[in-house]
Amino acid sequence: MYKLFFRLVFTRMDPERVHHLAFRWIRLAARIPVLRTFAAAVLAPRHEELRTEAFGLRMHGPFGLAAGFDKNAVAIDGLSMLGFDHVEIGTVTGEAQPGNPGKRLFRLVRDRGLINRMGFNNEGSAAVAERLRGRTPVFRTVVGVNIGKTKVVPEEEAAADYVKSAERLAPYADYLVVNVSSPNTPGLRNLQATESLRPLLTAVREAADRSVTARRVPLLVKIAPDLADEDVDAVADLAVELGLDGIIATNTTIARDELGLRSDAAVVAETGGLSGAPLKARSLEVLRRLYARVGDRITLVGVGGVENAEDAWQRILAGATLVQGYSAFVYEGPLWGRGIHKGLAARLRTSPYATLADAVGADVRNTRSTV
Ligand SMILES: Cc1cc2nc3c(=O)[nH]c(=O)nc-3n(C[C@H](O)[C@H](O)[C@H](O)COP(=O)(O)O)c2cc1C
Repeated sequence: MYKLFFRLVFTRMDPERVHHLAFRWIRLAARIPVLRTFAAAVLAPRHEELRTEAFGLRMHGPFGLAAGFDKNAVAIDGLSMLGFDHVEIGTVTGEAQPGNPGKRLFRLVRDRGLINRMGFNNEGSAAVAERLRGRTPVFRTVVGVNIGKTKVVPEEEAAADYVKSAERLAPYADYLVVNVSSPNTPGLRNLQATESLRPLLTAVREAADRSVTARRVPLLVKIAPDLADEDVDAVADLAVELGLDGIIATNTTIARDELGLRSDAAVVAETGGLSGAPLKARSLEVLRRLYARVGDRITLVGVGGVENAEDAWQRILAGATLVQGYSAFVYEGPLWGRGIHKGLAARLRTSPYATLADAVGADVRNTRSTV
């Protein structure tokens, strides 16, 4: 039904307009008590066996919505109603900014991918903090807050911009993510180099601790799939050294040629980050590499090209405690979360693992023990 609607209606509309429209429906449904209770019962059924704990936070399951969909934290309950066990809001920047001008979101339907160059369009850390402060949650869902650099702030002053966001947002964040991997803010990805990343993560950690004294807000870093393998290892080692809580792998890619894309060449050539199915193999590879390096010392979050329960299961076996997705939501629609939960619960039941936690990284551990 959704797929037919998508093909007949949505593909004829501008992708960003569809996003805003879908967003409005989700928010509206979440505001009507009967509708949201019914929707949550159908779309977000709980599976006891999927209960997950990550960096000290308890969740109904491992599957959540990746950053970028709800940049300003306006639809957390609606998204929770659709079955996302955690919702990562943002990227939020120190100051409000409009993002890039013009058309900035493109569908690669034949490849089940998206290209975006949104450029962190968001209302800024003060406004988003104020919204989170005034929020009365309907559903108890874990809220991650993803922060990034304001475009006009020079690279040398990036840390102060992140610190500003961290101080304002940490009190309302179940976990905090330092995003240094979006390709759409000039220079941002340079911050992944350990000599820049070490002081940045240290400063954000200190800011979160200053701002929230009653608990320790878990801190994660989100990395790009385009890092060379040695750089993935370097970030992993740094994360261990700094006592980081997690690594999110991965953001969108700037790669094109090597991915064998079948969509229209003009769309493929659009500048921006590519997400969805074409990203699947590399994201999985980065995740495996991270798990092989850090094991259970750091929680890993697998994201990039997750389309169905099998993909989510593969991420868990490769080392992910949590799994996220974004692009496939556009192609699969509101039943997506439900299908992933159901499929994951079925896979766990027929697997040799007693719990989901036992399955985390099992593939990588098995490969190691047979080498
Ligand atoms: C339109 C769009 C906007 C995004 N915005 C952000 C963002 O603001 N911050 C961020 O960390 N990731 C952002 N992402 C990246 C996603 O969170 C995710 O890492 C990436 O899309 C790979 O997952 P997927 O293949 O399931 O989409 C965005 C992705 C898309 C498609």
